Amino acid sequence: MIPLSVPNLSGKELAYVTDCLETGWISSAGSYVNRFEELVAEYLGVKHAIATVNGTAALHVALQLAGVRQGDCVLMPNITFVATANAVRYAGAEPILFDADLATWQMNLDLLEEFLGNDCDRSPAGELLVKSTGQRVAAILPVHVQGNIGPMQRLLAIAGEYGLPVVEDAAESLGSTYLGAQSGTFGLLGCLSFNGNKIISTGGGGMIVTNDDRLAASARHLTTTAKTDPMEYFHDEVGYNYRLVNVLAAIGVAQMEQLPDFVRKKQAIGSFYRAELGGIADIEFQAVLPEVEHNNWLFTIKTGHQKALLQELNNAKILCRPFWMPMNRLPMYKTCLYVSKTDNCQEIHSTCLAIPCSTSITEAELGTVTKEIKRIVA
Ligand SMILES: Cc1ncc(COP(=O)(O)O)c(C=O)c1O
Repeated sequence: MIPLSVPNLSGKELAYVTDCLETGWISSAGSYVNRFEELVAEYLGVKHAIATVNGTAALHVALQLAGVRQGDCVLMPNITFVATANAVRYAGAEPILFDADLATWQMNLDLLEEFLGNDCDRSPAGELLVKSTGQRVAAILPVHVQGNIGPMQRLLAIAGEYGLPVVEDAAESLGSTYLGAQSGTFGLLGCLSFNGNKIISTGGGGMIVTNDDRLAASARHLTTTAKTDPMEYFHDEVGYNYRLVNVLAAIGVAQMEQLPDFVRKKQAIGSFYRAELGGIADIEFQAVLPEVEHNNWLFTIKTGHQKALLQELNNAKILCRPFWMPMNRLPMYKTCLYVSKTDNCQEIHSTCLAIPCSTSITEAELGTVTKEIKRIVA
C-alpha cells in the first residue's frame, strides 16, 4: 500500500512525548506548548503564535477577534475544506462564496473586486453592506488551497481599499512563501492546522499567528476559557477550551525541528511528478505564481481521467483522493451567495485528484505511482 500523505515521526517525537508522560505534564500547561509556539513564531517571522486544539478552532477564534459578529458575512473561496465555512458559521456569520481561478485554484480576485465594487455599499455609519441583503461585510478569509498562494499583494490592496480585515486560512500552506514572506503572516491573523495529513502533524492541532499584541493576548485569553484570575474561577466572557495539550505540542516541537527537511522533500516530490507526468495525456498541474514558493503539501493533478484514476489507483493500493466538494454543493451552504461566472470550482472538483506524496515516500514508490498513472491515462 502506498499511502496518500502520512505523518513522518522520524525525529524526537517519542523522546519528547515520553518526557511528558514521565513528568506528568500531559495537559494544557507545560513547556512544550510554549516551545512549540516559539518555534512556529520564529519560523514564520511573526510576533505571536497561540496553539489551539485544531485548525478549525483557530479559525473560529481568529474570525471572532477580527470583529466578525452575529449576522455579518465573510468573503471566502467556494473551494476549500468544509472547516473554513464551518468556522464562519460558528462565529455567527454567513459565508459569501467566490469561484476559483482555474489556473491557481485560489479565490478569483476579479470576482471579489467586482462584488465589492458593484454589490456592496457604505452605510451612513460607514459600514460596508451587501446591497441585496443589508448584511455587513466583516472580513475576507482567503484559503491557501493545497499550500499554494494566490496574488496576495492584490488581495491585501483590495482589503485595504475597503477597510476589511484579512484572516488567512493557512492550514495547508506552512512553509509556502509569497515574495519571501511566510504564509499566515499577511493578514491580521493567520490560522494553521497540524492534523494528520498536514506537512507537520501533532495528530490534531492548530495555531493562531499574528503580529498584533492586543489580538494575541485576546486569542490566548479566549482559547483558555477567558479566565482572568490565576486563583479564582473568574471568567470575564464566554471563552473556549481550545488550548493544545502539552503531549501533542511535544510532537509539534519534534515536527518543527524537521519542517525545513519536510518542505524540501515535498518540493522534490512535486518536481519529480511535474517532470514525469507533464505532457502525459491531458494531465495539468496547479499553476504557481512567480512570487510564490509552494510547499507542495498535497500533490494534486488535474485530468479528465480523474474517475478512472481514483478507482484504479485505489484498487492497486496506491491511495489517492478527489478534490473537495465545493461549498455551494453542501446542504448547509447551498443557499449561500455564490459569486461565479463559469463555475470553475465544479471543474476543479471533477478533474483534480491528490496522489501519494508523504515525506517518507521512496523513489521506488514514486516510480510505481507514475508508471501506473501513465498506464491508466494512456
Ligand atoms: C483549508 C483547511 N482549512 C481548515 C482546516 C481545519 O483544520 P483542522 O482539521 O486542524 O481543524 C483544514 C484541515 O483539515 C484545511 O485543509
